[in-house]
Amino acid sequence: MTKVWAHRGAKGYYPENTLISFEGAIKQKADGIELDVQLSKDGYIMVCHDETLNRTTNGKGFIKNYNLYELKQLDAGAWYDKKFKGEKLPLLDEVLELIKGTNMDLNIEIKAGSIFYPGIEEKVIKMVNKFGIKEQVIISSFDHYALLKAKEIDNTIKTGLLYMESLYKPLKYVKTIKVNALYPNYITLNKELVEEANELNVDINTYTVNHEDDAKLIKQLDINAIITDYPDIVKNILENN
Ligand code: G3P
Ligand code: CA
Repeated sequence: MTKVWAHRGAKGYYPENTLISFEGAIKQKADGIELDVQLSKDGYIMVCHDETLNRTTNGKGFIKNYNLYELKQLDAGAWYDKKFKGEKLPLLDEVLELIKGTNMDLNIEIKAGSIFYPGIEEKVIKMVNKFGIKEQVIISSFDHYALLKAKEIDNTIKTGLLYMESLYKPLKYVKTIKVNALYPNYITLNKELVEEANELNVDINTYTVNHEDDAKLIKQLDINAIITDYPDIVKNILENN
């Protein structure tokens, strides 16, 4: 059965990429969690979607310009709702701790915006191995060089190729870049792509499906995972409708 992965946690109900959002996803019985990582000035792996603090914390400026101590002083919950005041920017370690001992998947997206973090792939893989949960983890990125690098570091780590528009013959590309999964925007999903991927044992994890009608259509396709802000709703559609 298609799995449901909680996008930045259960983002539809909680401040994204916070521990309470990940705990919410667990409560909603999501099969996995998706999160985004950036590096602090002193090299810690911080969980945050944006490379800047402005939108989701009470801080300002780039994460890469602050050390862990400074980042941990910030509030990452009140911007969403004052009842979440006191939520912090999590370290990747804290989420690994949460996932360890569950049977959930963890999708770590290495962000590729205007900033690149040299060595981030190695740091992430090292941390995942430290917790001994490599089988539960998949690293995804829009930065396909990061995926290549991850496989160079550890060819047993799972990787997934994020893309936005339709790609021409994506499964040929999969062979070249040796990823385990394709992450098509759900708008570009089609039966042929899914069938070809399944034949070649390549997972399809689609994003970000937040409308019930879309989830119902995607349910007809045999894909590995749906990434959504509303894990409870999508789970219910997959299991009951
Ligand atoms: O993994 C799917 C999705 O998270 C990619 O887009 O911008 O939400 O990180 P974004
Ligand atoms: Ca993401």
